[in-house]
Amino acid sequence: MENSHFKGENAAKNYSSFRPSYPESLSKSILEFLDEKLPKDLPRKLELDVGCGSGQSVGCVAPFFEKVIGIDVSEDQILKGRENNVFKNVEYVVGTFKELPAEDNSVSLVICGTTIHWFNPIEEFYAEVKRVLVPGGCLAIFAYSKSFITGLPKPLNHHLNLFFTNVFNKIAYEAPKEIKILFDNYHNLEMPFEDVTKDNSVMMTKELTFDKFAGFYKTKTLYKAYKDKYHSDTLEENRTLLEEIQNDKHFSNDTTFEVTWPISTIYGRKCKG
Ligand SMILES: C[S@@+](CC[C@H](N)C(=O)[O-])C[C@H]1O[C@@H](n2cnc3c(N)ncnc32)[C@H](O)[C@@H]1O
Repeated sequence: MENSHFKGENAAKNYSSFRPSYPESLSKSILEFLDEKLPKDLPRKLELDVGCGSGQSVGCVAPFFEKVIGIDVSEDQILKGRENNVFKNVEYVVGTFKELPAEDNSVSLVICGTTIHWFNPIEEFYAEVKRVLVPGGCLAIFAYSKSFITGLPKPLNHHLNLFFTNVFNKIAYEAPKEIKILFDNYHNLEMPFEDVTKDNSVMMTKELTFDKFAGFYKTKTLYKAYKDKYHSDTLEENRTLLEEIQNDKHFSNDTTFEVTWPISTIYGRKCKG
């Protein structure tokens, strides 16, 4: 599914400014799974990152592959990805999950970060992944959604958690049915591959200010959809709580706190036979 909220130069610019990159613990868990059974004569040659955005997930395991292709349906995200690119082995191309730019049996790893819930029908994606993967190659799906805040004195910490949880719940409530698998940690997402492994133990933590975290929310498709539907900004709706936060003696525009997102991972392998 291509979504209009992903389109546009501004969307790509905001994405690149406010969306987090993934932690090293995620790279480690993907590579451990991949190497467990990847045949020794099929080293880490080619990796595809499908729905790569402006590069947030690309850095995850790119240094460990000979070549990486980041694929995204949005031309602006791809242009931004190229502009930000720091890896010599990474190429960014415009494309969709329905037609991956690789030959049959040529890819060691396909990754898909916080994106698969947009792919419809998902079976077409799985079929394409099976076509391009080498036998024993892996598909690694991962995503984050809900978060929690720590690191501030109790009342302020509590008020910030309450404020951003309210924003999250409001926009999540409006989400299309297909997207809701994300809020359930992909619990009900089927993956028709071998050795399927699901886990929620990887954590991503970033130190942010209020404005940075609000900026992150503004990049969300669901935030924009809510704004279009109700002509109202969820980040400005809860005035009383906002004032409570702004009047707290521990709060200023420079106050930083830790935002932690649990990452849901699902890994699977193309059978060797
Ligand atoms: C939430 S972003 C994830 C970006 C990045 N992978 C990350 O982990 O932050 C979802 C991305 O999927 C892309 N996308 C949506 N539909 C797509 C499709 N049909 N084929 C390829 N990419 C698609 C969007 O353009 C957007 O950049």
